[in-house]
Amino acid sequence: MTSIVVVTGAASGIGEAVCIELAGRGHTVVVTDVNEEGAKAVASRLPHAQARKLDVTQATACREVVQAIEHDIGPISGWVSNAGVSRMARFLDIEEAQYDLTLDVNLRGLFFSGQAAARAMVTRQSGCIVNIASMAGKQGRAPFLADYVASKFGVVGLTQAMAFELAPLGIRVNAVCPGFVATSMQVRELEWEASLRGTDPASVKRQWIADTPMGRLEQPQDVARVVAFLLSQDAGFVTGESIAVNGGAFMD
Ligand SMILES: NC(=O)c1ccc[n+]([C@@H]2O[C@H](COP(=O)([O-])OP(=O)(O)OC[C@H]3O[C@@H](n4cnc5c(N)ncnc54)[C@H](O)[C@@H]3O)[C@@H](O)[C@H]2O)c1
Repeated sequence: MTSIVVVTGAASGIGEAVCIELAGRGHTVVVTDVNEEGAKAVASRLPHAQARKLDVTQATACREVVQAIEHDIGPISGWVSNAGVSRMARFLDIEEAQYDLTLDVNLRGLFFSGQAAARAMVTRQSGCIVNIASMAGKQGRAPFLADYVASKFGVVGLTQAMAFELAPLGIRVNAVCPGFVATSMQVRELEWEASLRGTDPASVKRQWIADTPMGRLEQPQDVARVVAFLLSQDAGFVTGESIAVNGGAFMD
């Protein structure tokens, strides 16, 4: 069934892979990102896709983008909150500006963009929201990522709270918790972790692979396929879950 799905932070990495996967399954995808040119470039490679600029930290902009999409394209049936940032530093060294940015994008952004989407979906008593959390949303044993861990634990809790309140209104809400995914975020983290540990990025990468029982780095498509499953009717009775997709790197 064709439906309109909006993806945030979709100009690269996991968000881009989600757009490609959903377009391949016949959905009309709206590619959004704070990086408008990047969003346009992704949309231009997909059938029936459109791009919109969206900074998820701006609650008003979230509401306006939802209204514009519903007016210009049609009813939104799926919303994927994927936009996220990370920066590695020791807990003792993290400054307020870093903490604020991480929480603003990863948690506040997901809260108010999800709220805007749900307010539209509730008028039809139908819809599905998928939040991209992290393995670091289920365990704090994630070096140099204390603010990120706090934001992603928040996402897992918020996913349950949204699912609980929205289930009677016909809206399912779930999360996906990826592990070590090969994206531009990972390239930056390899550099930071290597520098903080006094080693080189190749050694850190080897360690991450060694920490993954399935023996390879995760690919964005590994995440995208599970997002597509959660949006599908195959997951029609699943809500409030945060599904680990990490090759066994963390099992809970
Ligand atoms: N890469 C990993 O190993 C990994 C692991 C677990 C979870 N995640 C999560 O997956 C999601 C995607 O990460 P990725 O690895 O593809 O990273 P990425 O850096 O490749 O992509 C993130 C995208 O978010 C966009 N973005 C940043 N701030 C934004 C804002 N305020 N509003 C809208 N868009 C904004 C960026 O422009 C970028 O296109 C994030 O939520 C991240 O925390 C990633």
